[in-house]
Amino acid sequence: MKDILTAPFMVEMIRTVTNMYNHGWDERNGGNVSLMLDEKDVAGYIDPENVLRVIPTGFSAPSLEGRYFLVTGTGKYFKNVQYAPDVNLGLVRLTDGGANAQLLWGFTDGGRFTSEFPAHMMSHAARLTVNPDNRVIMHCHPANLLAMTYVHDLNEKAFTRTLWQMCTECIVVFPDGVNVLPWMLCGTNEIGEATAEKMLSARLVVWSQHGIYGAGTDLDETFGLIETAEKGAEIYMKIAHLPLVNTITDEQMHQLEKRFGVTAREGYLS
Ligand code: 13P
Ligand code: ZN
Repeated sequence: MKDILTAPFMVEMIRTVTNMYNHGWDERNGGNVSLMLDEKDVAGYIDPENVLRVIPTGFSAPSLEGRYFLVTGTGKYFKNVQYAPDVNLGLVRLTDGGANAQLLWGFTDGGRFTSEFPAHMMSHAARLTVNPDNRVIMHCHPANLLAMTYVHDLNEKAFTRTLWQMCTECIVVFPDGVNVLPWMLCGTNEIGEATAEKMLSARLVVWSQHGIYGAGTDLDETFGLIETAEKGAEIYMKIAHLPLVNTITDEQMHQLEKRFGVTAREGYLS
């Protein structure tokens, strides 16, 4: 058996959560990441027949039956993942229609996956219906996006348009925009279902007064998606209290659509 700590997916996961911590997005145990893996990715690194524990999930996700996920643990600090990946991460396989997760590696202190597992799994299921190549769901607490939810209209079109106007690249990176949920109790199936529903029409979902969810085909892309939205929010928080003299016009946004071959969310540009 090869050392799982040398597996490309493991190396990338550890680098990504460390980078998220270094960006200040994941104070204490804030944030969680799940990476869907194919059987061929994990082959040779674990024995798929050796189930260490079975952890009930509290929800069903039939479309994810038999899928493998590398996921961060609940209460674990991203800061510590690089020093003790086997304690802070776990590799699970969903069974029984998603009602149970078989632990195949990790969570060696008896821990379990993130309390936001419902939001992650339901969002994976939703994104896979839109893009079969989706592999990552990422949640974190970036300060400027969070700050924006205290002072900006939470209307999705208004929120998206403001972010698009803050940096030229925003509309190119997230032409599908940003969906927004009102404050809801985290860690519940209800917020999971609401997040997944929002994930059908955009890869970014803001949790007001809490943080953001991003979805993507790999860890780098998903990190970059959140990084770009957070940069837009940072510019907004720098200028929101100042007289606005210039902006990016809708006509210029249309030029960006043409130049980069992207299509802005229907009805969001005039
Ligand atoms: P976990 O420690 O359970 O992953 O929770 C962190 C978090 O960000 C909750 O929304
Ligand atoms: Zn959170």
